[in-house]
Amino acid sequence: MDKISIIGGKKLRGTVKVSGSKNAVLPLLFSSLLVEGEHIFHNVPFLKDVETTCLLLKYFGCEIKREENSLKIKKQKKLQSIKAPYQLVRQMRAGILSLGPLLAKHGSAEVSLPGGCAIGTRAVDLHLKGLRQMGAHIELIRGLIVARVKGRLKGTRILLDYPTVGGTENLMMAACLAEGPTFIENAAREPEIVDLAEYLNKMGADIQGAGTDLICITPKRILYPTEHTVIPDRIEAGTLLLAGAITRGNICISSCVPRHLDAVLLKLEEAGFFIKVDENSIELSAPSDFSSVNIVTSPYPGFPTDLQAQFMALMTQAKPGSSSTIRETIFENRFMHIQELVRLGADIHLDTHTALVKGGSLLQGAPVTATDLRASACLILAALVARGETLVHRIYHLDRGYEHLEKKLSSLGANIKRLK
Ligand code: UD1
Repeated sequence: MDKISIIGGKKLRGTVKVSGSKNAVLPLLFSSLLVEGEHIFHNVPFLKDVETTCLLLKYFGCEIKREENSLKIKKQKKLQSIKAPYQLVRQMRAGILSLGPLLAKHGSAEVSLPGGCAIGTRAVDLHLKGLRQMGAHIELIRGLIVARVKGRLKGTRILLDYPTVGGTENLMMAACLAEGPTFIENAAREPEIVDLAEYLNKMGADIQGAGTDLICITPKRILYPTEHTVIPDRIEAGTLLLAGAITRGNICISSCVPRHLDAVLLKLEEAGFFIKVDENSIELSAPSDFSSVNIVTSPYPGFPTDLQAQFMALMTQAKPGSSSTIRETIFENRFMHIQELVRLGADIHLDTHTALVKGGSLLQGAPVTATDLRASACLILAALVARGETLVHRIYHLDRGYEHLEKKLSSLGANIKRLK
Protein backbone atom coordinates (compact mmCIF):
# COMPACT_ATOMS: atom_id res chain seq x y z
CA MET A 1 0.00 0.00 0.00
CA ASP A 2 1.33 3.48 -0.88
CA LYS A 3 2.59 5.73 1.87
CA ILE A 4 4.01 9.25 1.97
CA SER A 5 7.38 10.18 3.40
CA ILE A 6 7.97 13.75 4.56
CA ILE A 7 11.09 15.24 6.04
CA GLY A 8 10.05 18.39 7.84
CA GLY A 9 11.75 21.74 8.12
CA LYS A 10 11.38 23.37 4.69
CA LYS A 11 9.60 26.73 4.35
CA LEU A 12 7.18 26.62 1.42
CA ARG A 13 7.60 29.24 -1.30
CA GLY A 14 6.11 29.85 -4.73
CA THR A 15 2.81 29.63 -6.56
CA VAL A 16 0.53 26.64 -6.85
CA LYS A 17 -2.66 26.09 -8.85
CA VAL A 18 -5.85 24.71 -7.37
CA SER A 19 -7.70 21.81 -9.06
CA GLY A 20 -11.41 21.43 -9.73
CA SER A 21 -13.58 20.86 -6.68
CA LYS A 22 -14.24 17.30 -5.52
CA ASN A 23 -17.43 18.22 -3.72
CA ALA A 24 -18.74 20.14 -6.73
CA VAL A 25 -17.86 17.63 -9.43
CA LEU A 26 -19.51 14.59 -7.81
CA PRO A 27 -23.10 15.97 -7.78
CA LEU A 28 -22.51 17.45 -11.25
CA LEU A 29 -21.60 14.02 -12.62
CA PHE A 30 -24.70 12.49 -11.03
CA SER A 31 -26.90 15.24 -12.48
CA SER A 32 -26.17 13.75 -15.93
CA LEU A 33 -28.62 10.96 -14.98
CA LEU A 34 -31.46 13.48 -15.37
CA VAL A 35 -31.18 13.90 -19.14
CA GLU A 36 -30.13 11.66 -22.03
CA GLY A 37 -27.41 12.81 -24.39
CA GLU A 38 -23.84 14.02 -23.93
CA HIS A 39 -22.84 16.07 -20.87
CA ILE A 40 -19.37 17.65 -20.92
CA PHE A 41 -17.52 18.74 -17.80
CA HIS A 42 -14.20 20.60 -17.69
CA ASN A 43 -11.70 21.11 -14.84
CA VAL A 44 -12.48 17.61 -13.53
CA PRO A 45 -9.77 16.58 -11.06
CA PHE A 46 -8.09 13.14 -11.13
CA LEU A 47 -9.41 11.68 -7.88
CA LYS A 48 -10.45 8.27 -6.64
CA ASP A 49 -13.96 9.58 -5.82
CA VAL A 50 -14.34 10.77 -9.44
CA GLU A 51 -13.21 7.32 -10.65
CA THR A 52 -15.71 5.62 -8.35
CA THR A 53 -18.51 7.91 -9.58
CA CYS A 54 -17.61 7.07 -13.20
CA LEU A 55 -17.69 3.34 -12.38
CA LEU A 56 -21.13 3.81 -10.88
CA LEU A 57 -22.40 5.75 -13.89
CA LYS A 58 -20.97 3.05 -16.20
CA TYR A 59 -22.72 0.42 -14.10
CA PHE A 60 -25.98 2.28 -14.74
CA GLY A 61 -25.17 2.18 -18.47
CA CYS A 62 -23.64 5.59 -19.22
CA GLU A 63 -20.69 5.88 -21.60
CA ILE A 64 -17.74 7.82 -20.24
CA LYS A 65 -14.79 9.35 -22.03
CA ARG A 66 -11.98 11.17 -20.28
CA GLU A 67 -9.70 13.59 -22.18
CA GLU A 68 -7.22 15.23 -19.81
CA ASN A 69 -9.32 17.29 -17.41
CA SER A 70 -12.53 17.00 -19.40
CA LEU A 71 -15.10 14.28 -18.97
CA LYS A 72 -17.87 13.37 -21.40
CA ILE A 73 -20.83 11.41 -20.08
CA LYS A 74 -23.30 9.96 -22.53
CA LYS A 75 -26.56 9.04 -20.84
CA GLN A 76 -28.79 6.58 -22.73
CA LYS A 77 -32.56 6.79 -22.71
CA LYS A 78 -32.83 3.39 -21.04
CA LEU A 79 -30.41 2.43 -18.28
CA GLN A 80 -28.88 -1.03 -17.77
CA SER A 81 -29.48 -0.84 -14.04
CA ILE A 82 -31.08 1.50 -11.49
CA LYS A 83 -29.14 -0.11 -8.66
CA ALA A 84 -26.10 1.48 -6.99
CA PRO A 85 -24.33 -1.58 -5.55
CA TYR A 86 -22.65 -1.83 -2.16
CA GLN A 87 -19.15 -2.48 -3.54
CA LEU A 88 -19.14 1.00 -5.16
CA VAL A 89 -21.23 3.05 -2.73
CA ARG A 90 -19.30 1.80 0.32
CA GLN A 91 -16.18 3.50 -1.06
CA MET A 92 -17.80 6.88 -1.29
CA ARG A 93 -20.75 8.47 0.50
CA ALA A 94 -21.58 10.64 -2.52
CA GLY A 95 -23.08 7.53 -4.21
CA ILE A 96 -26.30 8.53 -2.43
CA LEU A 97 -26.51 11.41 -4.94
CA SER A 98 -27.67 8.94 -7.59
CA LEU A 99 -30.92 8.43 -5.65
CA GLY A 100 -32.71 11.70 -6.49
CA PRO A 101 -31.87 11.77 -10.22
CA LEU A 102 -32.60 8.04 -10.79
CA LEU A 103 -35.92 8.25 -9.00
CA ALA A 104 -36.99 11.45 -10.75
CA LYS A 105 -35.98 10.24 -14.19
CA HIS A 106 -36.70 6.50 -14.08
CA GLY A 107 -39.30 6.20 -11.32
CA SER A 108 -37.24 3.78 -9.26
CA ALA A 109 -33.83 3.49 -7.65
CA GLU A 110 -31.98 1.10 -5.38
CA VAL A 111 -29.00 2.58 -3.59
CA SER A 112 -26.92 0.92 -0.90
CA LEU A 113 -26.65 2.89 2.31
CA PRO A 114 -23.44 4.89 1.83
CA GLY A 115 -19.92 4.57 3.22
CA GLY A 116 -17.15 7.17 2.91
CA CYS A 117 -15.01 8.55 5.77
CA ALA A 118 -15.53 7.08 9.23
CA ILE A 119 -16.06 10.52 10.76
CA GLY A 120 -19.54 10.03 12.13
CA THR A 121 -22.81 8.25 11.52
CA ARG A 122 -23.58 10.39 8.45
CA ALA A 123 -27.25 9.61 8.16
CA VAL A 124 -29.28 10.13 4.98
CA ASP A 125 -32.66 10.40 6.72
CA LEU A 126 -33.20 13.96 5.47
CA HIS A 127 -32.64 12.90 1.84
CA LEU A 128 -35.26 10.19 2.29
CA LYS A 129 -37.71 12.40 4.20
CA GLY A 130 -37.61 15.03 1.45
CA LEU A 131 -38.12 12.46 -1.33
CA ARG A 132 -41.02 10.89 0.60
CA GLN A 133 -42.59 14.35 0.87
CA MET A 134 -42.36 14.48 -2.91
CA GLY A 135 -44.40 11.29 -3.16
CA ALA A 136 -41.72 8.58 -3.22
CA HIS A 137 -42.29 5.26 -1.52
CA ILE A 138 -39.03 4.30 0.19
CA GLU A 139 -38.08 1.20 2.13
CA LEU A 140 -34.81 0.08 3.69
CA ILE A 141 -34.23 -3.56 2.82
CA ARG A 142 -31.05 -5.27 4.04
CA GLY A 143 -28.85 -2.19 3.72
CA LEU A 144 -30.46 -1.10 0.47
CA ILE A 145 -32.61 2.00 -0.04
CA VAL A 146 -35.40 0.87 -2.35
CA ALA A 147 -37.32 3.84 -3.77
CA ARG A 148 -40.26 3.97 -6.18
CA VAL A 149 -42.66 6.61 -7.37
CA LYS A 150 -45.90 6.21 -9.32
CA GLY A 151 -45.76 8.66 -12.21
CA ARG A 152 -43.68 11.73 -11.43
CA LEU A 153 -42.44 13.12 -8.12
CA LYS A 154 -44.60 16.00 -6.89
CA GLY A 155 -43.11 19.41 -6.17
CA THR A 156 -43.70 20.51 -2.58
CA ARG A 157 -42.38 22.60 0.30
CA ILE A 158 -39.52 20.91 2.17
CA LEU A 159 -38.15 22.37 5.39
CA LEU A 160 -34.85 20.64 6.13
CA ASP A 161 -34.20 19.98 9.83
CA TYR A 162 -30.52 20.66 9.08
CA PRO A 163 -28.91 22.31 6.02
CA THR A 164 -27.47 19.07 4.67
CA VAL A 165 -25.25 19.57 1.62
CA GLY A 166 -25.92 16.21 -0.05
CA GLY A 167 -29.59 16.33 0.91
CA THR A 168 -30.04 19.75 -0.68
CA GLU A 169 -28.28 18.51 -3.86
CA ASN A 170 -30.32 15.30 -4.09
CA LEU A 171 -33.63 17.13 -3.64
CA MET A 172 -32.68 19.94 -6.00
CA MET A 173 -31.87 17.43 -8.76
CA ALA A 174 -35.02 15.38 -8.14
CA ALA A 175 -37.19 18.52 -8.16
CA CYS A 176 -36.02 19.43 -11.68
CA LEU A 177 -38.21 16.64 -13.11
CA ALA A 178 -41.09 16.84 -10.62
CA GLU A 179 -44.63 18.03 -11.24
CA GLY A 180 -44.97 21.57 -9.90
CA PRO A 181 -42.47 23.74 -8.02
CA THR A 182 -40.41 22.66 -5.00
CA PHE A 183 -39.26 25.01 -2.24
CA ILE A 184 -36.31 23.83 -0.14
CA GLU A 185 -36.14 25.81 3.10
CA ASN A 186 -33.13 25.81 5.42
CA ALA A 187 -31.16 24.68 2.35
CA ALA A 188 -27.37 24.33 2.46
CA ARG A 189 -25.61 27.41 1.04
CA GLU A 190 -22.25 25.90 0.03
CA PRO A 191 -20.63 27.11 -3.23
CA GLU A 192 -20.94 23.55 -4.55
CA ILE A 193 -24.75 23.89 -4.37
CA VAL A 194 -24.52 27.07 -6.43
CA ASP A 195 -22.32 25.33 -9.00
CA LEU A 196 -24.80 22.46 -9.34
CA ALA A 197 -27.73 24.88 -9.69
CA GLU A 198 -25.79 26.70 -12.38
CA TYR A 199 -25.38 23.51 -14.42
CA LEU A 200 -29.01 22.49 -13.91
CA ASN A 201 -30.08 25.95 -15.09
CA LYS A 202 -27.82 25.62 -18.14
CA MET A 203 -29.67 22.33 -18.83
CA GLY A 204 -32.87 24.37 -18.97
CA ALA A 205 -34.08 24.07 -15.35
CA ASP A 206 -35.33 27.09 -13.42
CA ILE A 207 -33.65 27.23 -10.02
CA GLN A 208 -33.71 30.42 -7.98
CA GLY A 209 -32.04 31.13 -4.66
CA ALA A 210 -29.13 28.65 -4.71
CA GLY A 211 -26.57 30.02 -2.24
CA THR A 212 -29.35 31.22 0.09
CA ASP A 213 -31.39 29.17 2.54
CA LEU A 214 -34.48 29.15 0.29
CA ILE A 215 -34.17 27.43 -3.07
CA CYS A 216 -37.10 27.37 -5.46
CA ILE A 217 -37.08 24.84 -8.31
CA THR A 218 -39.66 25.21 -11.07
CA PRO A 219 -39.54 22.16 -13.34
CA LYS A 220 -39.39 22.65 -17.09
CA ARG A 221 -40.76 20.29 -19.74
CA ILE A 222 -37.51 19.89 -21.66
CA LEU A 223 -34.01 19.62 -20.27
CA TYR A 224 -30.98 19.09 -22.49
CA PRO A 225 -27.37 18.07 -21.78
CA THR A 226 -24.74 20.76 -22.04
CA GLU A 227 -21.24 21.80 -20.91
CA HIS A 228 -19.83 23.13 -17.64
CA THR A 229 -16.54 24.03 -15.96
CA VAL A 230 -16.25 22.85 -12.35
CA ILE A 231 -15.43 25.50 -9.72
CA PRO A 232 -12.02 25.41 -7.99
CA ASP A 233 -11.67 23.29 -4.85
CA ARG A 234 -11.90 25.61 -1.84
CA ILE A 235 -10.84 22.84 0.55
CA GLU A 236 -7.71 22.06 -1.45
CA ALA A 237 -6.96 25.81 -1.64
CA GLY A 238 -7.40 26.08 2.14
CA THR A 239 -5.19 23.04 2.77
CA LEU A 240 -2.39 24.50 0.62
CA LEU A 241 -2.67 27.87 2.36
CA LEU A 242 -2.44 26.18 5.75
CA ALA A 243 0.61 24.24 4.51
CA GLY A 244 2.24 27.58 3.64
CA ALA A 245 1.22 28.96 7.04
CA ILE A 246 2.47 26.06 9.17
CA THR A 247 5.93 26.21 7.54
CA ARG A 248 5.96 30.01 8.01
CA GLY A 249 6.34 30.27 4.27
CA ASN A 250 5.34 32.70 1.59
CA ILE A 251 3.00 31.24 -1.02
CA CYS A 252 0.45 32.18 -3.64
CA ILE A 253 -2.60 30.01 -4.39
CA SER A 254 -3.81 30.62 -7.94
CA SER A 255 -6.99 29.65 -9.84
CA CYS A 256 -9.15 29.80 -6.73
CA VAL A 257 -12.19 31.79 -5.60
CA PRO A 258 -10.97 33.74 -2.52
CA ARG A 259 -14.47 34.63 -1.27
CA HIS A 260 -15.22 30.91 -0.85
CA LEU A 261 -12.53 30.92 1.85
CA ASP A 262 -13.54 34.06 3.77
CA ALA A 263 -13.97 32.27 7.11
CA VAL A 264 -10.52 30.70 6.86
CA LEU A 265 -8.77 33.87 5.67
CA LEU A 266 -10.27 35.84 8.58
CA LYS A 267 -8.95 33.26 11.06
CA LEU A 268 -5.49 33.31 9.46
CA GLU A 269 -5.43 37.12 9.69
CA GLU A 270 -6.61 36.96 13.29
CA ALA A 271 -3.67 34.65 13.99
CA GLY A 272 -1.29 37.23 12.47
CA PHE A 273 -0.69 35.99 8.91
CA PHE A 274 -0.56 38.52 6.07
CA ILE A 275 -3.12 37.78 3.37
CA LYS A 276 -3.45 39.50 0.01
CA VAL A 277 -6.42 38.63 -2.13
CA ASP A 278 -6.81 39.16 -5.86
CA GLU A 279 -9.69 38.21 -8.13
CA ASN A 280 -8.62 34.56 -8.32
CA SER A 281 -5.55 34.21 -6.14
CA ILE A 282 -4.53 34.43 -2.50
CA GLU A 283 -1.06 35.30 -1.23
CA LEU A 284 -0.01 34.35 2.27
CA SER A 285 3.09 35.42 4.13
CA ALA A 286 3.92 34.46 7.66
CA PRO A 287 4.97 36.60 10.62
CA SER A 288 7.90 35.35 12.71
CA ASP A 289 5.39 34.09 15.30
CA PHE A 290 1.62 33.74 15.21
CA SER A 291 -1.19 33.59 17.78
CA SER A 292 -3.59 30.84 18.75
CA VAL A 293 -7.16 31.45 17.59
CA ASN A 294 -10.39 29.59 18.36
CA ILE A 295 -12.61 28.05 15.70
CA VAL A 296 -16.07 26.50 15.59
CA THR A 297 -17.00 24.56 12.46
CA SER A 298 -20.39 25.33 10.95
CA PRO A 299 -22.20 25.11 7.61
CA TYR A 300 -21.10 27.59 4.91
CA PRO A 301 -20.28 30.48 5.21
CA GLY A 302 -18.93 29.34 8.59
CA PHE A 303 -15.55 27.67 9.14
CA PRO A 304 -15.57 24.45 7.05
CA THR A 305 -15.40 21.14 8.90
CA ASP A 306 -13.27 19.90 5.99
CA LEU A 307 -10.45 22.23 7.12
CA GLN A 308 -10.76 21.64 10.88
CA ALA A 309 -8.08 18.94 11.06
CA GLN A 310 -5.58 20.95 8.99
CA PHE A 311 -6.21 24.08 11.10
CA MET A 312 -5.59 22.04 14.23
CA ALA A 313 -2.16 21.05 12.89
CA LEU A 314 -1.42 24.77 12.40
CA MET A 315 -2.49 25.64 15.94
CA THR A 316 0.07 23.22 17.44
CA GLN A 317 2.69 25.66 16.08
CA ALA A 318 1.22 28.90 17.47
CA LYS A 319 3.18 30.93 20.08
CA PRO A 320 4.43 28.85 23.02
CA GLY A 321 2.18 29.36 26.05
CA SER A 322 -0.91 30.13 23.95
CA SER A 323 -3.80 27.74 23.32
CA SER A 324 -6.69 27.37 20.93
CA THR A 325 -10.10 25.75 21.24
CA ILE A 326 -11.44 23.91 18.20
CA ARG A 327 -15.10 22.91 18.33
CA GLU A 328 -16.56 20.49 15.79
CA THR A 329 -20.31 20.81 15.30
CA ILE A 330 -20.88 18.89 12.06
CA PHE A 331 -19.38 15.41 12.40
CA GLU A 332 -19.33 13.89 15.89
CA ASN A 333 -16.31 11.69 15.26
CA ARG A 334 -14.09 14.06 13.31
CA PHE A 335 -11.24 14.11 15.81
CA MET A 336 -9.43 10.91 14.92
CA HIS A 337 -6.40 12.90 13.79
CA ILE A 338 -5.79 14.01 17.39
CA GLN A 339 -4.22 10.74 18.54
CA GLU A 340 -1.90 10.77 15.54
CA LEU A 341 -0.92 14.43 16.09
CA VAL A 342 -0.16 13.53 19.70
CA ARG A 343 2.12 10.74 18.43
CA LEU A 344 4.08 13.47 16.62
CA GLY A 345 4.39 15.41 19.89
CA ALA A 346 1.35 17.72 19.86
CA ASP A 347 -0.29 18.71 23.15
CA ILE A 348 -4.05 18.34 22.57
CA HIS A 349 -6.87 17.49 24.98
CA LEU A 350 -10.29 16.48 23.77
CA ASP A 351 -13.41 17.24 25.76
CA THR A 352 -16.41 15.77 23.88
CA HIS A 353 -16.69 18.02 20.81
CA THR A 354 -14.02 20.56 21.72
CA ALA A 355 -10.26 20.16 21.43
CA LEU A 356 -7.84 22.29 23.42
CA VAL A 357 -4.67 22.70 21.37
CA LYS A 358 -1.52 24.05 23.03
CA GLY A 359 0.79 26.13 20.85
CA GLY A 360 4.57 25.79 20.66
CA SER A 361 4.81 21.99 20.32
CA LEU A 362 8.09 20.65 18.98
CA LEU A 363 6.92 17.93 16.63
CA GLN A 364 9.10 14.89 15.90
CA GLY A 365 8.70 12.72 12.79
CA ALA A 366 7.10 9.30 13.40
CA PRO A 367 5.02 6.71 11.57
CA VAL A 368 1.36 7.77 11.60
CA THR A 369 -1.85 6.43 10.08
CA ALA A 370 -4.41 8.48 8.19
CA THR A 371 -7.92 7.67 9.39
CA ASP A 372 -9.90 9.70 6.88
CA LEU A 373 -9.53 12.09 3.98
CA ARG A 374 -8.94 15.40 5.78
CA ALA A 375 -7.01 13.72 8.61
CA SER A 376 -4.45 12.61 6.01
CA ALA A 377 -3.95 16.21 4.93
CA CYS A 378 -3.64 17.29 8.57
CA LEU A 379 -0.87 14.74 9.22
CA ILE A 380 1.02 15.81 6.11
CA LEU A 381 0.86 19.44 7.28
CA ALA A 382 2.13 18.51 10.74
CA ALA A 383 4.91 16.44 9.16
CA LEU A 384 6.07 19.49 7.16
CA VAL A 385 7.30 21.03 10.44
CA ALA A 386 8.22 17.88 12.35
CA ARG A 387 11.90 17.15 12.90
CA GLY A 388 13.06 14.14 10.86
CA GLU A 389 10.99 11.77 8.76
CA THR A 390 7.27 11.11 9.09
CA LEU A 391 5.69 8.21 7.23
CA VAL A 392 1.96 8.64 6.63
CA HIS A 393 0.25 5.28 6.11
CA ARG A 394 -3.16 4.55 4.52
CA ILE A 395 -2.97 7.47 2.16
CA TYR A 396 -5.64 5.96 -0.08
CA HIS A 397 -7.89 8.30 1.90
CA LEU A 398 -5.86 11.22 0.54
CA ASP A 399 -6.25 10.04 -3.06
CA ARG A 400 -10.04 10.12 -2.69
CA GLY A 401 -10.03 13.89 -2.47
CA TYR A 402 -6.68 15.56 -3.31
CA GLU A 403 -5.20 15.69 -6.80
CA HIS A 404 -1.42 15.11 -6.54
CA LEU A 405 -1.08 16.87 -3.19
CA GLU A 406 2.47 15.60 -2.71
CA LYS A 407 3.52 16.93 -6.13
CA LYS A 408 2.00 20.33 -5.41
CA LEU A 409 3.74 20.56 -2.01
CA SER A 410 6.99 19.39 -3.54
CA SER A 411 6.74 22.15 -6.19
CA LEU A 412 6.60 24.61 -3.27
CA GLY A 413 9.81 23.17 -1.84
CA ALA A 414 8.57 20.48 0.57
CA ASN A 415 10.67 17.38 1.03
CA ILE A 416 7.90 14.89 0.33
CA LYS A 417 7.60 11.74 -1.73
CA ARG A 418 5.22 8.85 -2.30
CA LEU A 419 6.59 5.40 -1.56
CA LYS A 420 5.04 2.42 -3.33
C1 UD1 B 1 -20.64 17.20 2.27
C2 UD1 B 1 -19.23 17.12 1.76
C3 UD1 B 1 -18.26 16.89 2.91
C4 UD1 B 1 -18.45 17.96 3.98
C5 UD1 B 1 -19.91 18.03 4.41
C6 UD1 B 1 -20.18 19.16 5.39
C7 UD1 B 1 -19.55 16.19 -0.45
C8 UD1 B 1 -19.34 15.04 -1.39
N1 UD1 B 1 -19.11 16.02 0.80
O1 UD1 B 1 -20.94 15.93 2.85
O2 UD1 B 1 -16.93 16.97 2.39
O3 UD1 B 1 -17.67 17.63 5.11
O4 UD1 B 1 -20.74 18.23 3.25
O5 UD1 B 1 -19.76 20.37 4.86
O6 UD1 B 1 -20.02 17.24 -0.85
N2 UD1 B 1 -27.06 14.52 8.25
C9 UD1 B 1 -28.15 13.91 8.81
N3 UD1 B 1 -29.13 13.45 7.97
C10 UD1 B 1 -29.04 13.58 6.62
C11 UD1 B 1 -27.93 14.22 6.06
C12 UD1 B 1 -26.94 14.68 6.91
O7 UD1 B 1 -28.24 13.74 10.03
O8 UD1 B 1 -29.95 13.13 5.91
C13 UD1 B 1 -25.96 14.99 9.14
C14 UD1 B 1 -24.67 14.20 8.87
O9 UD1 B 1 -24.63 12.99 9.61
C15 UD1 B 1 -23.62 15.19 9.32
C16 UD1 B 1 -24.24 16.56 8.95
O10 UD1 B 1 -25.62 16.32 8.80
O11 UD1 B 1 -23.45 15.12 10.71
C17 UD1 B 1 -23.69 17.15 7.68
O12 UD1 B 1 -23.93 16.29 6.59
P1 UD1 B 1 -24.10 16.80 5.08
O13 UD1 B 1 -24.19 18.29 5.06
O14 UD1 B 1 -25.19 16.01 4.47
O15 UD1 B 1 -22.71 16.39 4.46
P2 UD1 B 1 -22.43 15.52 3.17
O16 UD1 B 1 -23.31 15.97 2.07
O17 UD1 B 1 -22.38 14.10 3.52
